[in-house]
Amino acid sequence: MEQEKKKIVLSAVQPTGTPTLGNYLGAFKNWKIMANDMAQEYDCFYAVADLHSITVRLQPADLRRQTLEMYAFLLALGIDPEKNVVFIQSHVPEHAQLAWILNCYTQFGEASRMTQFKDKSEKHPENVNVGLFSYPVLMAADILLYQADYVPVGDDQKQHLEITRDIAERFNGIYGNTFKVPEPFIHKAGARIMSLQDPAKKMSKSDANPKGFISLLDDDNVILKKIKSAVTDSEAKVYYGEGKDGINNLMEIYSCCTGKSFDEIESEFDGKGYGDFKTAVGEAVIDELKPVKAEYNRLINDKAYLLQCAATGAEMASHFAQRTLKKTMKKVGFLQLEK
Ligand code: TYM
Repeated sequence: MEQEKKKIVLSAVQPTGTPTLGNYLGAFKNWKIMANDMAQEYDCFYAVADLHSITVRLQPADLRRQTLEMYAFLLALGIDPEKNVVFIQSHVPEHAQLAWILNCYTQFGEASRMTQFKDKSEKHPENVNVGLFSYPVLMAADILLYQADYVPVGDDQKQHLEITRDIAERFNGIYGNTFKVPEPFIHKAGARIMSLQDPAKKMSKSDANPKGFISLLDDDNVILKKIKSAVTDSEAKVYYGEGKDGINNLMEIYSCCTGKSFDEIESEFDGKGYGDFKTAVGEAVIDELKPVKAEYNRLINDKAYLLQCAATGAEMASHFAQRTLKKTMKKVGFLQLEK
């Protein structure tokens, strides 16, 4: 029987500081599962999206450092850079080239409707740059260049996946089949981890209150303290339900870290108070993050190795990216040089 072709998985993360438990549970954990446990099914491409992060003004030294740090986190997850393509976006110029072309197949109106653009431009009215506006188009280029089947992301990226699909379908409709139309891969559990201090808000590293988020490098005692001070409700009964956003969030975190279902968690803490529950959640998070933290601390001291892996990753990524860019340019009608 002919072997079925592996599906292509692509995702990326911005190098905007130490990732949070939200990034980890919403994205990284699934990236790792797809690359390792499901390696028979998927070919994985994971990128540090450094081009995306300059929509905000950064010191050049910070951008360089944060990019390398985020790259180290991806390897620290246990993603093998020889079996998967782990690369830095700016090392593969085809991303920017395809993004320009796709800009011309994206309507001003549809880009204006992106909620992340609206939120970010409201928060930073002093720097509403064109890059921020066309950010989802660059993201579409990241995905379409590799003909990705699945894009594992958190819930907040869903709208960007929808516009990517629209752009791909529009282009294919004009020029014939050029891009694979990708599917978002959003695991219900962990898709939207909320702030520990305001469970109506997404957990984010840009939160002014550091008690709202857990960073992947937080010390064990800090993790425990943050979970213990998480905002909950006054009912003192552990179950998933309406009006219990804080507890729902902690249940989700606990479920992602232990693999237990909500029913199992409810019976485990039946008759117990929030204190016991929070301690268990804190310990589960500590156990989950421990190996990543240790491996990160080892890797970040080996810059030569990280750069060598990034160079290999860029080379492997370019191979695929060039193929799609060439095909796209030919379809649009750019004059090809004779070889
Ligand atoms: P970024 O860097 O903001 O986040 C990386 C991944 O983490 C997920 N995430 C969360 N998931 C659950 N709960 C949370 N609180 C939480 N916070 C973040 C995000 O959904 C994301 O999957 N634009 C993207 C990066 C990007 C990209 C791409 C993604 C660039 N090109 C191509 C996929 C495909 C971003 O800013 O993610």
